[in-house]
Parts: sequence; C-alpha cells; structure tokens
Amino acid sequence: MSFDHFEYKGVRFAKAVHSEDSLSYAENTFEVLDDDIFNVTYPKSGTNWMIEILNLIKHKGDSTVSKTVPIHIRSPWYETAGSEEYISKMDSPRIISSHLPQHIFAKSFFKSKAKIIYTMRNPKDVVVSMFYFTKILNIFKPAENLQNFLEDFVQGKALYGSWFDHIKGWMQMKNDSRFFFITYEELTQDLRGSIVRICKFLGYELDDAQIDLVVEQSTFKSMKENKMSNWSQVPSDVLDQSKGSFLRKGKSGDWKNHFTVAQSEHFDDIYQEKMKDLKMTFPWEQAS
Ligand code: A3P
Repeated sequence: MSFDHFEYKGVRFAKAVHSEDSLSYAENTFEVLDDDIFNVTYPKSGTNWMIEILNLIKHKGDSTVSKTVPIHIRSPWYETAGSEEYISKMDSPRIISSHLPQHIFAKSFFKSKAKIIYTMRNPKDVVVSMFYFTKILNIFKPAENLQNFLEDFVQGKALYGSWFDHIKGWMQMKNDSRFFFITYEELTQDLRGSIVRICKFLGYELDDAQIDLVVEQSTFKSMKENKMSNWSQVPSDVLDQSKGSFLRKGKSGDWKNHFTVAQSEHFDDIYQEKMKDLKMTFPWEQAS
C-alpha cells in the first residue's frame, strides 16, 4: 500500500491528512466532553454507515441534517488536520469519528463519561474495500494487484497500521460500560436489531416509527442516493468517483470474488497466529 506516510507511535499515518501535531493534539490535548459519542473503526469497516446511523438516531429519524450536511462534516475524524474547525461548531452530543488505535486515543476520554461505538468488519472484506479505495482517493498510489496489497496489509503497512493490533487494542475495553462493539456483518444481517441495540447503549428512546426512519435512511441504497452521504460533495481531484464509487458494493463476503484459495489460506494462517490470544469469536470466523 503506497502513500506518503510517517510513523507515530509505531503506526502509519498519511502526510496528506495527518501531522505529528494533529496526532499529538488528538492524543494529549483534545478535550472530550461527557456526552460525546465516538464512532471508532479501522478504515473501511463501516465508518460512514455508522455516522449515518448515529446522526439519524440523534435526530430521532429526522433526515434534515443528513440531507443537508456532507457526511464528513456531520462527524469529522478528530485526528485529522483541520477537523477542529468543524468540531468546534458541533452541537451536543457531538458525534465524532476516529480511526485511531486505542493506544493513541484521546487521553481525556478515559477520564470522561463519553461513549464509544466500535465497528469491526471481516478483515478480508476490509482488504478488498481498501484495495479499491486506493484507486479513487488521491492520497494513495493506486494498488495494482491484490497480492502485494495483502502482504502490506498483514504486515501492518496500511494507513492506520495493523488491523490485528487495532482490534486487539480496542477489545481491551470490551467490558467497559462506555464501550459498545458491533460488526459490519451484524449490521448487514439485522440492521433494525442493531439500531435498537445502539439506541439502548446510548440511552435514546425512539418509538417504532422513528426506528423505521433510521433503518430506511441508513440502507446502502438510501446512502448511495443521498448526495450528502455518497461523498459526491468532495472534489474529484481528491476523490475520483469516475474510477469507482465510495459506496462500492456494501456487501459481506465480497472477498470470495477476489482472494484465491491460496491467498485465503495464507491469510487464515496469519489471522490465527495473530488473534490466538484474543479469546473472542467473530461472525467472519464461521464464514472463513
Ligand atoms: P465496500 O467497499 O465493500 O462496498 P468506511 O465507511 O469505513 O470507509 O467503509 C466503507 C465500506 O462500507 C464500503 O464497503 C461501503 O460500501 C460500505 N458501506 C457504507 N455504507 C453502507 C451501508 N449503508 N450499507 C452497507 N455497506 C455500507
């Protein structure tokens, strides 16, 4: 995976959107408020999907904000340079996104009552989604073949570092009452049930009709049709959607159309080795 990068605390970041200062600010200076809601993911795991869901929950299904404010402004990535401009204007509760690994996350969070929703996805689907993403986002040199891309991914040379370390780091918080984790696969299989669980965690009481509105407007189709959610507001010299859509397929298991049997087995071996100490099971482990 080729992009102009630097390392911060052992993790790769992109010079185009991060700096030592923006990361140090995110880690050491950023002031978390007690009612903040953080949407944390490893890239390509459903971050934007969760932004849509959380904003709709916040507004009890009313789509005024999601139809008028671009998604990256609705919930900025607080570790990126320039995000402060948007975050300082957000109304409460702030819904803030982040791809940071746990060891770099805002220190003030751990002393606050703020909450985190952490979304994970089958890493093989993350690989495929990210592979195509490099072809449209200008900070990357477009990946040419999956084999090299896969090697970089398993070696932690991707943007935001190792998927395995990200999951293991954040899962240290799995029993914390301020932390809720969910998978892309659960969202795909039962969007309504997932939304109900998220509402419960956040303490939002929506009636059935309001939940229906959240579900209807956070489907892949609705988001793809919403010009404030499909990233079409971003200039094409930054995100060139003539070469592929940001909202690409929105499916679980697309890796099967891309990995060879040998690549899949190789990945499974590495996965088992790296994840063996984490005594948890994930939906994609049955599917593999
Ligand atoms: P694909 O490339 O597999 O289609 P992120 O927001 O973390 O960058 O993740 C992007 C991935 O989430 C893309 O996956 C995108 O299509 C998918 N996605 C976004 N919104 C979705 C939705 N409403 N339903 C299903 N998948 C969605």
